[in-house]
Amino acid sequence: MKTIAVIGLKGGSSKSTVALHLAVCAEAAGLAVAVIDSDPQASAHKWFERREVETPSIIREIDGDAFTKLQSIAHKNGTDLLIIDTAGKAESTALAACEIADMVLVPVRPTQFDLETLSTVKRTVRIAERTSVTWVMLSQVPTGSNAGRMIEEGEAAIQAYGLNLAPVRIATRASYAYAMSAGQTATEFEPRGKAALEAGAVYQWVSGLVGCAAKPTRELVDA
Ligand SMILES: Nc1ncnc2c1ncn2[C@@H]1O[C@H](COP(=O)(O)OP(=O)(O)OP(=O)(O)O)[C@@H](O)[C@H]1O
Ligand SMILES: [Mg+2]
Repeated sequence: MKTIAVIGLKGGSSKSTVALHLAVCAEAAGLAVAVIDSDPQASAHKWFERREVETPSIIREIDGDAFTKLQSIAHKNGTDLLIIDTAGKAESTALAACEIADMVLVPVRPTQFDLETLSTVKRTVRIAERTSVTWVMLSQVPTGSNAGRMIEEGEAAIQAYGLNLAPVRIATRASYAYAMSAGQTATEFEPRGKAALEAGAVYQWVSGLVGCAAKPTRELVDA
């Protein structure tokens, strides 16, 4: 089993959106997935309540001290991928999530106020000894004609902090927000849309990096 912590010390940076897209993409690839929702706001849990299907499993646990136990239970239950969604401004929970993670993913918007929170992120992952497996990904990147400069400056800022820059990013697209309100992901809401393609690319990159390859589908196993 692999564990991914999605952290960020700024609210609204797409942590839950990214965590849930990774979870649903992994399930579509045949993996058994569980998500720990450690945010007292319970966005992932509420998303699940709006959802028509019963997967992925969402476990509500705001106490970071319980993560190790939950990880071991998930492992025993046959979970292939455990994703921990954390709250912005909850440093101790983010630290606990990082400590048990194989990969730490940090979505960050390419704006000054957001990028400057990376110094705290850097300290958190350094304490958890996870700097080398931490990747910062630009999120909510504007799609307008002057977005290029924001991307360039955002990427340069991430690298200036000495953090790994993810080779993928997500733009601001209405499909993400619509999908979240419908208890879905963009891959389900508009499978051929740009957001779905983007989320699929993020999953492909993440799954290759952590080594959670797609399992053969039941039909292939039975054939
Ligand atoms: N790429 C995107 N394009 C458009 N809307 C987005 C995108 N990512 C997230 N959103 C919307 O922005 C809001 C914040 O996103 P989300 O809840 O995923 O962030 P978060 O980092 O988990 O926030 P919090 O810190 O409150 O937990 C939500 O309403 C979500 O639907
Ligand atoms: Mg959230």
